[in-house]
Amino acid sequence: MQVKDNAFLITGAASGLGAATAERLVAAGGRVTLCDLSEGVEALAERLGAAAVAVRGDVTSADDIRAAVDAAVAHGGERGLAGVVHCAGVVSVAKLLDREGNPADLDDYARTQQINLVGTFNVMRLAAAAMAANAPGEDGERGVIVNTASVAAFDGQVGQCAYSASKAGVVGMSLPAARELSRHGIRVMAIAPGVFETPMMEDLPEAAVEALSAAVPFPKRLGRPDEYARLAEQIITNPMLNGEVIRLDGGIRMQ
Ligand SMILES: NC(=O)c1ccc[n+]([C@@H]2O[C@H](COP(=O)([O-])OP(=O)(O)OC[C@H]3O[C@@H](n4cnc5c(N)ncnc54)[C@H](O)[C@@H]3O)[C@@H](O)[C@H]2O)c1
Repeated sequence: MQVKDNAFLITGAASGLGAATAERLVAAGGRVTLCDLSEGVEALAERLGAAAVAVRGDVTSADDIRAAVDAAVAHGGERGLAGVVHCAGVVSVAKLLDREGNPADLDDYARTQQINLVGTFNVMRLAAAAMAANAPGEDGERGVIVNTASVAAFDGQVGQCAYSASKAGVVGMSLPAARELSRHGIRVMAIAPGVFETPMMEDLPEAAVEALSAAVPFPKRLGRPDEYARLAEQIITNPMLNGEVIRLDGGIRMQ
């Protein structure tokens, strides 16, 4: 799938990994529809110019994402929607039992699953329905879906039950979704980032950033958002990447 002249929907596009992906795809000649809860999408779309449009939306809402997909299809003109890079998500930290032995809040747990896991399914199903209607390209390809998991899906730390479970769900959907959508010529991949320098990590104290950087075998630093965007671009353009989750983490294994 080429990026140039094709249209992509990017969720979580107001910030961090999604915003970097939008910039990279536009630089490569793509057209992007930026979806996020935050008003930052309008500012980014304005900066990126005619290649970008913004749609405010919540990934957990069927109506919002239907509208975002419709906007992305329209932005793609007669070529429709070529792909989605789904970056919207939230981090959450809560122990099963707090210091006094009180159990974790059930609504907080459910909210994390709703945004990270149900939101991913919602975006995948609506984007796939639109892409299945595309005219087939080379090899019969009609579209590509790039989801965002996390290394926490594999080596979650204390306090990450909710976050790890939500991202393990994203990992678990990759293969069955890729198998099912293969008959439509739609690929499904996921990226599992390690620790990246984005607003999501902004609240980490300096000492924690240093400790995390030191824990990365190489390079000894946090990932840069454009390094995620480069992998997303490679997944879009390389047709043999399908049904897999790629760790992008400098070799870190969380303790
Ligand atoms: N930064 C990291 O170290 C890291 C590591 C592993 C995985 N991830 C994952 O990468 C993805 C992007 O994270 P980031 O670091 O760019 O974070 P970020 O906080 O910078 O960006 C996330 C964006 O998602 C948006 N968002 C949140 N809930 C939404 C909803 N319901 N509907 C629409 N938009 C919503 C936010 O407004 C925000 O703009 C997330 O899924 C995150 O879990 C990040």
